Amino acid sequence: MVKKKAGDYNEEHGKKLHDGVISKLNHISFNNLLDVGCGTGNLLSRISSKYEVKIAGVDISPDMLEIARDKLGEKADLRVGDSENLPFDDECFDVITCTDSFHHYPHPGNVLIEFKRILKPEGHIIIADLSVPQPFKQLSNLLIPFTKDGDVRIYSESEIRKLLVNTGFKGFEWEQINMSAFIVTAFK
Ligand SMILES: C[S@@+](CC[C@H](N)C(=O)[O-])C[C@H]1O[C@@H](n2cnc3c(N)ncnc32)[C@H](O)[C@@H]1O
Repeated sequence: MVKKKAGDYNEEHGKKLHDGVISKLNHISFNNLLDVGCGTGNLLSRISSKYEVKIAGVDISPDMLEIARDKLGEKADLRVGDSENLPFDDECFDVITCTDSFHHYPHPGNVLIEFKRILKPEGHIIIADLSVPQPFKQLSNLLIPFTKDGDVRIYSESEIRKLLVNTGFKGFEWEQINMSAFIVTAFK
């Protein structure tokens, strides 16, 4: 995993993903939420100003979390950690969000098992991530390991569905946000 600097991030793309996540949250009843790969805390910051819920974030990069801490202060429980080994107890969250981070994970199946472990029964996941039109996907995935951002793979709808179904998630819903982004929801 290559560390990202906060300034490297494409704010417009991030905002579209965050808008998509917020629109999904509007239909869910929840008391607490974990944002995995929370980066500099932009999504958590929006969630904290919109909902009266407990929020937490985890990221593998201490540098990203430092910026998130400056932004969120005591409003969020922020921890350094790997998505494959989350520093939280079993069945403690109503919702897990993951925006623009899933394509960085070398073992996505292990990550989803971990998401399931820390979700309460019937808890929801919302994953928003990069997408590439089908004709370019194969080439993108051949080239993506050579980018400097630590990207691993861009997923199609059927690949994400298979990963989630194999982990035992239910109620899979896929929505294409635009040509370069999708959002997926499912529950435990
Ligand atoms: C493109 S940034 C997105 C940040 C944030 N989710 C957002 O939407 O603004 C990807 C983030 O995923 C984090 N990340 C990458 N691999 C990770 C892993 N295995 N576990 C936890 N975080 C990871 C990176 O450190 C980075 O902060």
